[in-house]
Amino acid sequence: MSIEELADIAQAMVAPGKGIIAIDESTATIAKRFASVGVENTEENRRAYREMLLTTPNLSDYISGAILYDETIRQSTRDGVPFTKIMMDAGILPGIKVDTGAKPLAGCPGELVTEGLDGLRERLAEYVKLGAKFAKWRAVITIGEDIPTGTCIDSNAHALARYAALCQEAGIVPMVEPEVLMDGDHDIDTCYDVTEAVLRSLFAALYEHNVMLEGCILKASMVISGKDCPEQADAEEVAAQTVHCLKATVPATLPGIVFLSGGQSDEQATRHLNEMNQLEGNPWPLSFSYGRAMQAAALKIWAKDPVNNVAEAQKTVYARARENGLAALGEWQG
Ligand code: 13P
Repeated sequence: MSIEELADIAQAMVAPGKGIIAIDESTATIAKRFASVGVENTEENRRAYREMLLTTPNLSDYISGAILYDETIRQSTRDGVPFTKIMMDAGILPGIKVDTGAKPLAGCPGELVTEGLDGLRERLAEYVKLGAKFAKWRAVITIGEDIPTGTCIDSNAHALARYAALCQEAGIVPMVEPEVLMDGDHDIDTCYDVTEAVLRSLFAALYEHNVMLEGCILKASMVISGKDCPEQADAEEVAAQTVHCLKATVPATLPGIVFLSGGQSDEQATRHLNEMNQLEGNPWPLSFSYGRAMQAAALKIWAKDPVNNVAEAQKTVYARARENGLAALGEWQG
């Protein structure tokens, strides 16, 4: 695939007023989400839940793509239509999570490195056949006493760059996600410094590995106060610091940046995105790739009655997509 074709996909992912819904929870992660609402974690329940999400009427009004998990990209609706066909027919790009999770980084206590490079070329070739247009790899950076170390930051950046280069070779747009966790009592300035170091390392590694930024999307965490920090920065400050940090580190040739919600409330996630889009002169579209902040409300409704509450849950999915779509334009009214 040519770089122009990759660039077209990347631009479609961040089309004005549209964002991504992340439904790529691993079986272990969806188990936690289901447990919180009393749903048994069976393959059929996961399938039915994701069918509810993906068949939300008119979802593509505000959603350009959805990130799937390995199991999900192989699944179909109750009526036997592959999810990827449902998505392509609706104008929603299929994405796929290709990392195999963050594991303890040897020699660096308390830190993680994301695995999944072994065999990735072959797995990507299969995902292309299954219809994937973009992929996601999530690196996890923890803030704590004396961490993150440069070793952790650079190891994760290196893995992200190798993954991104393999994606482009396969004709898939890489979504590179270095998540700086909100966990901890650190202040927003600490989050800024760590995020800046992480993004600098990432873009240096992408350059070293000949990744074409025109065919790549950044999935970023916001610059925000740690969850347990006694002083919580307000939305205006989160927006200002996040955009400043991104402007200082992310080349303008990147087609777009989407954010993860990372444990923010639905309202915070939308408000922060909206606030950023009200700032003038951002060099890239800023949109969303939310998991929890797109799904939490709908999951609760669906879980109460997975057979009869589908339409009501879908209304909530659509409403969250609309709110975040408006926030991607800076037009959310609260
Ligand atoms: P959250 O929005 O729930 O953080 O999930 C986004 C995601 O895909 C993290 O990798």
